Amino acid sequence: MDEKVSLVTGTGMEMPGLPPGFQAPVVGVSENARVPGAAGATFAIPRLGIPSMVLADGPAGLRILPHRKEDHHGSYYCTAFPIATLLASSWDIELVEQVGCAMGLEAKEYGVDILLAPALNIHRIPLGGRNFEYYSEDPLVSGKMAAAMVRGVQSQGVGTSIKHYVANNHEWNRNTIDVIADQRALREIYLKGFELAVKEGKPWTVMTSYNKLNGTYTSERSDLLSDILRGQWGFEGLVMTDWFGGRNAVLQLVAGNDLLMPGTARQQKKLLEAVTAEQLDEAVLDRDIENILNVLLKSLVFSGYRYGDDPDLQGNAAIARKAAADGMVLLQNKNQTLPLASNISLGVFGNSSYEMVTGGTGSGDVNKAHSISLVKGLDEAGYTTLAKLEDDYANYLEVESAKLPPRQPFRVPERIPERTVLRDEIIQIAGATDAAIVTLGRNSGEFADREIEDDFNLSAGEQQLLAAVAEAYHQVGKKVVVILNIGGVIETASWRDQVDAILLAWQPGQEAGFAIADVLSGTVSPSGKLATTFAINVADYPSAENFPGVVLEEAEPNGSSLVQAARAAEVVYEDSIWVGYRAFHTRNMETAFPFGHGLSFTRFSYGDLQLSSAVFKDKLSVRVTVTNCGELPGREVVQLYLSAPSGRLDKPASELRAFGKTRLLQPDASQTLDFVLAAMDLASFDPVTGMWTVDAGKYALGIGASSTDIRTTDYFQVVEALSLSV
Ligand code: BGC
Repeated sequence: MDEKVSLVTGTGMEMPGLPPGFQAPVVGVSENARVPGAAGATFAIPRLGIPSMVLADGPAGLRILPHRKEDHHGSYYCTAFPIATLLASSWDIELVEQVGCAMGLEAKEYGVDILLAPALNIHRIPLGGRNFEYYSEDPLVSGKMAAAMVRGVQSQGVGTSIKHYVANNHEWNRNTIDVIADQRALREIYLKGFELAVKEGKPWTVMTSYNKLNGTYTSERSDLLSDILRGQWGFEGLVMTDWFGGRNAVLQLVAGNDLLMPGTARQQKKLLEAVTAEQLDEAVLDRDIENILNVLLKSLVFSGYRYGDDPDLQGNAAIARKAAADGMVLLQNKNQTLPLASNISLGVFGNSSYEMVTGGTGSGDVNKAHSISLVKGLDEAGYTTLAKLEDDYANYLEVESAKLPPRQPFRVPERIPERTVLRDEIIQIAGATDAAIVTLGRNSGEFADREIEDDFNLSAGEQQLLAAVAEAYHQVGKKVVVILNIGGVIETASWRDQVDAILLAWQPGQEAGFAIADVLSGTVSPSGKLATTFAINVADYPSAENFPGVVLEEAEPNGSSLVQAARAAEVVYEDSIWVGYRAFHTRNMETAFPFGHGLSFTRFSYGDLQLSSAVFKDKLSVRVTVTNCGELPGREVVQLYLSAPSGRLDKPASELRAFGKTRLLQPDASQTLDFVLAAMDLASFDPVTGMWTVDAGKYALGIGASSTDIRTTDYFQVVEALSLSV
């Protein structure tokens, strides 16, 4: 029994300040941590030839410690790939799979069996502190991206853990919050991406979320873990908790949460007592262990793979750079400001130009060997930047960072206020250079959501800098380009008219400066599109009314949460399915930049739509030809939206139902893209019948370059309503 209990609890976690009850388990054979800095491990049973699996984060690349005591190997740095939100903006499934392969290879070569990624919670509101780890406000994009990432990582023999299942959309009181969501919103928005990722990616593991859902911790819900995940979607792997997630070890195992991570002495004690008292059926343990061992049988450690701690970091840096450039979104480009002419001189402003935010903080962070600043990228691309300006920023950042309070592990560092550059100096620089670049940076991460002031909205210092640079450069007829080095949406509507071009670089990973310079110079033609709406104000998001939620009166017992005040709290998802563009378009609300938006250096024309039939039967084939009718090479993201007839359920004005991306098209070149829609792609979830339903009537099918830029439309009929089982 001790052995069985040891298998369903991880080997624990050493961390200063762990509250009582969180100490590492006592039952089980703990090997010395094979991979220092990995998030956790499973117990070994040497008697039975069962080795210990190592589990490590995360979504932007492997997170392990870069240095080891008394070790002569050297360093163990990993590649910081671009954040998931950037990857999703590429809308390029092959690219994401390629990034997954690269991440998987690194995990493999550093001895990690399961990568705790991808993360695919929905961007319900831009203020979510971990949005950068997630893909999109849309479940189709999220699910397709996650599935691609899973396939890529697992192609290397490394398992994945899709997380956080489910409805973990913000950080406030994350260990106790009760998410109240209706069945339709769950099925169509919050579960849908997981469903796609499970069916199309076949992840080895799923990680349950911290939150409660409709009154019960997700890790204790057998409907989520057994009925939906395994029963309806056919998941065959193992389910683990998030770290210290949930409360009741017995209920978790019974519900189908096979593995409790990172594992605590308290959990082991509870389980042993429950078996003795016949409150926990041994058959439950056996079932959970079978799921765990089935994953172990596929693992690298079980196959005896001998890793060399020497992954191809150079090769992976090249993949990170390419992915970063391919996922950047050109939001605005007045009078073809970009690409920049070669060899010109640039006045480069903004703290983040000199210290880029390569990714967010917390478990989604990566210990990388280097990060490329924007000025470095520009210099290498042949642009002239100003050494004095660089020195001034470097000195300022050094002095200011010394003033910050010591950084707490995992927490977001305080943002250094934007450096003030005097108006006269800006005028002088504007005279001496050909164009200006201003970078605005944002960071966020685990344990806290973002603020509206000075975060979603620009700070006063940023506004002053933008206004002064724009005025000085425009006075002398020169252009201003803004780079957004951010992990989530910020306010753009109030200032975008002041500047000429805006490149959304997201948090592009360690090769940041090189990748941005690739796009600014035109070496890479931008082809990213928004997978998340840029609204005008935070208040425009329907979820804002219920964000972050309310603290309930009764308090939970102290010490039940590792890292956050354990206050019982609740958030009601009154916005239901009206998340992101589904809300904005249906309510005719203006946005700053709509879902799917992204400019290119070239132009594309769309031919007529060809539908296989005017009447939908089991499926419908859709064909469209896209032509590069501009002067430069480029790639186009092609988006297919459906508008369903009004039936019993309220329908969004349009919903993304398929997408594709062309290869690099030279001027005048065309590519034909084919899509196939199945009945499920037309369906909405009817909470009354508990089935997916397709209403009868006339459907409009629009294909275009964004959710508001539909270039070609056709119609088809569904003669008789269809009901599809879950
Ligand atoms: C995060 C997970 C992560 C785990 C292990 C938790 O705090 O929510 O995403 O995988 O820690 O580091």
